Amino acid sequence: MAKEIKTIGVLTSGGDAPGMNAAIRAVVRKAISNGVNVKGIKKGYQGLLNEEIIDMQKKDVSDTIQRGGTILGTARCMEFVTEEGQAKGAEICRKHGIDGIVVIGGDGSYRGAQALSKQGINTIGIPGTIDLDIACTDYTIGFDTAINTAMQAIDRVRDTSSSHERCSIIEVMGRNAGYIALWCGVANGAEDILLPEKYDYNEQEIINSIINNRKHGKTHHIIINAEGIGHSTSMARRIEAATGVETRATILGYMQRGGNPTCKDRFYASIMGAYAADIICQGKTNRVVAHQAGQFVDYDIDEALAMKKEIDEYEYSVSRLLSR
Ligand code: ADP
Ligand code: F6P
Repeated sequence: MAKEIKTIGVLTSGGDAPGMNAAIRAVVRKAISNGVNVKGIKKGYQGLLNEEIIDMQKKDVSDTIQRGGTILGTARCMEFVTEEGQAKGAEICRKHGIDGIVVIGGDGSYRGAQALSKQGINTIGIPGTIDLDIACTDYTIGFDTAINTAMQAIDRVRDTSSSHERCSIIEVMGRNAGYIALWCGVANGAEDILLPEKYDYNEQEIINSIINNRKHGKTHHIIINAEGIGHSTSMARRIEAATGVETRATILGYMQRGGNPTCKDRFYASIMGAYAADIICQGKTNRVVAHQAGQFVDYDIDEALAMKKEIDEYEYSVSRLLSR
C-alpha cells in the first residue's frame, strides 16, 4: 500500500535554470490544494544535511514565477554522494516529518533522489537544466530561456564581427551536451557548430572553410563552440595565424543561465511542478516527470537514468548543410 503523505519537501539542486521558481511555485500550490504541507529545503542536498528547512505557504511563492535563478538556492554536495550522507538526509527528513521530496535538477540530482527513495523517503524528480541533456524527456526547464539569451547575444557579436570582417568563436554552455550549441548554431546561421558529441577536432577543415569563404566574398565567419570543447581563446589564435583573418573568442558564460524565464519555461515548469505534486501526494516514489510526444508523463528513475540521449542525426546533418 502507498505510504500516506502528510508533508513534502521541495528542493533545487545542481546548476540553476530559469523556470525553477515557476516549478517550486506549482509544487507548493498544488500540494497545498491537495491537503499536504510543504517545506522548502534551501541549497539542495547540502541544505537538507544542514537542516535549512522552512515552512512554505501559497503566499510564499507569489511574485516568483517571472524571476530567474531559484528562490530556494542550489548547491553541489559531495557528502550526499556517500551512503552515510544519504542515510543522514533520510534521518533529517524523518525528524522534520517530511514524507517525500520533489527534486528539481538534472541527472546528478536524480541520483540523489534515487538514493533517498531507497532510504524510505519518497522522491519525484523534475527536469531542471539548461542543457536539455536528460534522456527520458524531450524538454528540460531552462533550455528555452538559455537558447534565446544566447541567440540574442550571438546576433550582437555577429554585427560587430561582420563590420570588422572578423571570424568569431562564440562559446556557449554545455560541458557534456551540445544542444545549446546546436540550436543556436542553426538559429544564428553559424558557419561551424562544434558539439562535444560530434566534433572530431579537425581544425584544418575549419581553416579551409574560412579561407574558401573569404575567396567567395563572405565577410564573417561564426563558429559556435560548446563549452565541452573548450580552448576557444587558443583556437582563435591558431585560426588567425593559419588564415590571416582576425579572429576573436567570446565566452558567453553564466549570463546564459540567468534571466527571466520565457513563457515556454514558465508553462512547462508549472505543469511539471503540479504533476510532480500530484504523484508525490498519491504516494508514488522514485519517479521523474517528463514530456514525451506532446504529453506529460512519468518514468521510474532507474529506467530514466539508464536511457541514453544522442544528438539527432538528421538535425545534425541539416545544421551542417545549412552552414556552408
Ligand atoms: P545536475 O543535477 O544538474 O546534473 P550535479 O550532477 O552537480 O547536477 O548533481 C547535483 C547534486 O546531486 C550533487 O552535488 C550531489 O549532491 C547529488 N548527486 C549527484 N550524483 C549523485 C549520486 N550518485 N548519488 C547521490 N547524490 C548525487
Ligand atoms: O547548468 C548546466 C551547466 O551550465 C553546464 O552547461 C555546465 O557544464 C555547468 O552547468 C557549469 O556549471 P558550474 O560552473 O556552476 O559548475
